[in-house]
Amino acid sequence: MATKSIELFALDGKIGLVTGAARGLGRAMAAGLAGAGADLLLVDVLEDTLAQTASDIRNETGRRLDHLSTDLGNTGALESIVAACVDRFGRLDILVNNAATTVRKPFTEITPEQFDRIMAVNAKAAYFLSQHAARQMIRQNTGGKIINMASLTSEIGMPNITAYGASKGGVYALTKGLAVELAAHRICVNAIAPGFFVTDLTSPVWDSADKRAWIQSRIPLGRPGSPDDIVGTAIYLASAASDYLTGRVIFLDGGWMAS
Ligand SMILES: NC(=O)c1ccc[n+]([C@@H]2O[C@H](COP(=O)([O-])OP(=O)(O)OC[C@H]3O[C@@H](n4cnc5c(N)ncnc54)[C@H](O)[C@@H]3O)[C@@H](O)[C@H]2O)c1
Repeated sequence: MATKSIELFALDGKIGLVTGAARGLGRAMAAGLAGAGADLLLVDVLEDTLAQTASDIRNETGRRLDHLSTDLGNTGALESIVAACVDRFGRLDILVNNAATTVRKPFTEITPEQFDRIMAVNAKAAYFLSQHAARQMIRQNTGGKIINMASLTSEIGMPNITAYGASKGGVYALTKGLAVELAAHRICVNAIAPGFFVTDLTSPVWDSADKRAWIQSRIPLGRPGSPDDIVGTAIYLASAASDYLTGRVIFLDGGWMAS
């Protein structure tokens, strides 16, 4: 029985596509999914780091790892990413829309160009990559899993990242809408909303002792997340263990939103 239960989380034979996989939470999720048995196409704009990450995970897990360097802000390139995955692996079962960017500035100082870039990478790319992935999953008629990356700012305000928050509010709504639209095709769509994790994205915050202390004081578990803390939730959402879960945003935040 114990063996059978753990098999619910196995990803053997599954093909996944992870964006923003070169570093940070994307890298950790990619390593976790490959560790659970999935073969993966990793996508990122950081070409050299991405190639190194793919090589590292391949060596660690023995899975098939391929990588594609592209800028997700280029909407016209998104269809070719799914096509590349199908070309290389024959199918697509799991999409992780993880890549994101931000500009830390007061609301009054953000330019239309900065706003458009944040929206294009964080929300528009997730929308259209999901569209191309869903079309492929529907053609396969195998069901599928889409995992989006939301944020505390999907639900609450924080200073200097209001444009980012607007994009993550969009990801929250996208998750709900897609879950309803794709349920008939057995495609489950959920999101992870990380609290504060120590990555390059949040380094400007960690570099400030005052901000670090303020954040830590608001986390009931008493520490920020490390990339490894996201792996279990990612495997759960990618696997058969979550086949009856769709349209949920899981706040993975050490208790922040509960307090
Ligand atoms: N770290 C946190 O505390 C935190 C909190 C809430 C949400 N998140 C979300 O988690 C996800 C991962 O964040 P992270 O902390 O690992 O950030 P990170 O900056 O370390 O990693 C993001 C990755 O996305 C890639 N990327 C950015 N723009 C891209 C583009 N245009 N095309 C292709 N790739 C691009 C980057 O090169 C990088 O490898 C993001 O969606 C972020 O919004 C993170």
